[in-house]
Amino acid sequence: MTAPAIRDSRPEDVTAIAAIYAHWVENGRASFELSPPSEEEMAARREAILAGGYPHLVATDEAGAVLGYAYASAYRPRPAYRHTVENSVYVAPGATRGSTGRALLEALIARCEAADFRLMVAVIGDSANAPSIRLHEALGFRHAGVIPSIGWKHEMWLDTVLMTRPLGPGDTTPPTRP
Ligand SMILES: CC(C)(COP(=O)(O)OP(=O)(O)OC[C@H]1O[C@@H](n2cnc3c(N)ncnc32)[C@H](O)[C@@H]1OP(=O)(O)O)[C@@H](O)C(=O)NCCC(=O)NCCS
Repeated sequence: MTAPAIRDSRPEDVTAIAAIYAHWVENGRASFELSPPSEEEMAARREAILAGGYPHLVATDEAGAVLGYAYASAYRPRPAYRHTVENSVYVAPGATRGSTGRALLEALIARCEAADFRLMVAVIGDSANAPSIRLHEALGFRHAGVIPSIGWKHEMWLDTVLMTRPLGPGDTTPPTRP
């Protein structure tokens, strides 16, 4: 299989992005949303990510079809957190295990390092999400703790698994971003 191509997302990708996310909202535990957002809402979220200066990427196949997407966002709004990003990565259900998640997350890390963010946090739902936990481990994330039973979805309690990865020089030098 050819490696997926990674590029910045475009407005016309939102239909595919919304469909991918809708699948995982309805069928997975990675997202703590209970019902899929509309396409309009997904477009507005993308615009907000870009307006915040964060990367928003898609992976495509040879024909240009969107296989998955990933973006960075503020971890928390208080300003001392501003050198830290949270990541999100979602791959179309029919395209998993084809190195798309790896390619997206590698590219996202590179983009965040180039922008001199210093820490990436993965907030993973849930402890049973082996694909996500293994993907993050494979890309250098370390376990930073588990918050047990913090969510309730699909008639069960869900954990949050926190994993972190330094970006660039990490905490060995002071930040250079404003
Ligand atoms: C997690 C997710 C993004 C992985 O994407 P993917 O394209 O299937 O993953 P890749 O093919 O790039 O795999 C990269 C690595 O992740 C790990 N991995 C991926 N799927 C796995 C699985 N089902 N079981 C165990 N490890 C897995 C492996 O270490 C793999 O490396 P390998 O192929 O050398 O073994 C995808 O399963 C997904 O979208 N899941 C639903 C949403 C989600 O959980 N997103 C993460 C939010 S925190």
